[in-house]
Amino acid sequence: MRGKHIILGITGGIAAYKSASLARLFVKAGAEVQVVMTPSAKEFITPVTMSALTGKPVVSEFFTANTGEWHSHVDLGLWADAMVIAPATASSIAKMAHGVADNMLITTYLSAKAPVFIAPAMDLDMMAHPSTVANIELLKSYGNHIIEPAEGELASHLIGKGRMEEPERIFDVLYRFFNDTDELAGKKVLITAGPTYEPIDPVRFIGNYSTGKMGYALADAAAARGAEVTVVSGPVEVKPSHPGVKVVKVESARQMLEACEPLFDEASIAIFSAAVADYTPAHPATSKIKRETTDLPSLELVKNPDIAATLSSRKRPGQLTVGFALETDNEADNARHKLASKHLDLIVLNSLRDSGAGFGCDTNKVTVFSPQGVVADLPLKSKQECARDIISLLTRYDPITH
Ligand code: C5P
Repeated sequence: MRGKHIILGITGGIAAYKSASLARLFVKAGAEVQVVMTPSAKEFITPVTMSALTGKPVVSEFFTANTGEWHSHVDLGLWADAMVIAPATASSIAKMAHGVADNMLITTYLSAKAPVFIAPAMDLDMMAHPSTVANIELLKSYGNHIIEPAEGELASHLIGKGRMEEPERIFDVLYRFFNDTDELAGKKVLITAGPTYEPIDPVRFIGNYSTGKMGYALADAAAARGAEVTVVSGPVEVKPSHPGVKVVKVESARQMLEACEPLFDEASIAIFSAAVADYTPAHPATSKIKRETTDLPSLELVKNPDIAATLSSRKRPGQLTVGFALETDNEADNARHKLASKHLDLIVLNSLRDSGAGFGCDTNKVTVFSPQGVVADLPLKSKQECARDIISLLTRYDPITH
């Protein structure tokens, strides 16, 4: 993304506040960002914020009133390597679909020679209206890329489809577009993610707070490099943003191991990021345990298989296995010990002592160890950025020279 020219088009919707984060992500990745705002977008976020973040004056009018300086949408259209319109309101989508060139953003869109990415954001009924649906279809038929809105709570407090996709995910789409690299092309990558649920009875389980965010971010990052990725995932809400990622859903550790076994044999890289329960009830009840019919029950537990250790111990030459260690104390020693005892090539340590690292958060701070020592010590960053760094490291990693 370094040195790429991106036009960030902002239209007048509540989600415009997220455009600031998106601009920042592009700038941090080394891109040059030119913001073009519709007049109504300025009601939602100020040009001052956007120009401060991008280091470039925002373009919004056809000319500067006091000097008469003309802003050429044609030049802008030619300058861009990509144009992203986020958020795109129903009104701007309609104007783009029908060529209603009544503001600088639409004229720039009509002049753009580069691929255009559109992230709609609107209320669920507007999104579902046949005219919006038809306009989006028209935009797709012109070759534009639609970054589908997510489901969730909307500005109206209604729940449904219409929320602009998160800046991180939009960034990912552009990152993939610019880094359509094939370093991992033809390689199969297996990733375990999320928690496991160990059944106590048909309605209860032993679980943990893992959200799967790190594992799915790794899957997206590996798929962006051309890998054929399968995530074997415990129960989570999160979904991959890369369309090529396959997901196999399981619940218990045993099911996770069973699902992984055939996939591991085919994989060039296996990343074990799941938070697998260490123990499972020895005799899960087949019907619901009733409070009235049972004295305070004690739960007999048995050890679960260690998926990372089991599979890594039968690694073939050239196959790379990576584990995670979530530690609270003696972090580095524990991580090194796990690396050796589980026969891993690399282990990614996150310390629960670092704020912003570990379960649930959107950020992580990790140190990667090989048997020879620290391979990378990364600062706090989003899980997506962290995942991209880890995957970059794996693509370059050569166990012989480390
Ligand atoms: O021993 P600990 O749970 O801390 O090890 C963490 C690493 O081992 C992670 O990579 C995790 O995915 C993997 N693991 C596993 N199966 C288990 C326990 C942990 O694959 N039963």
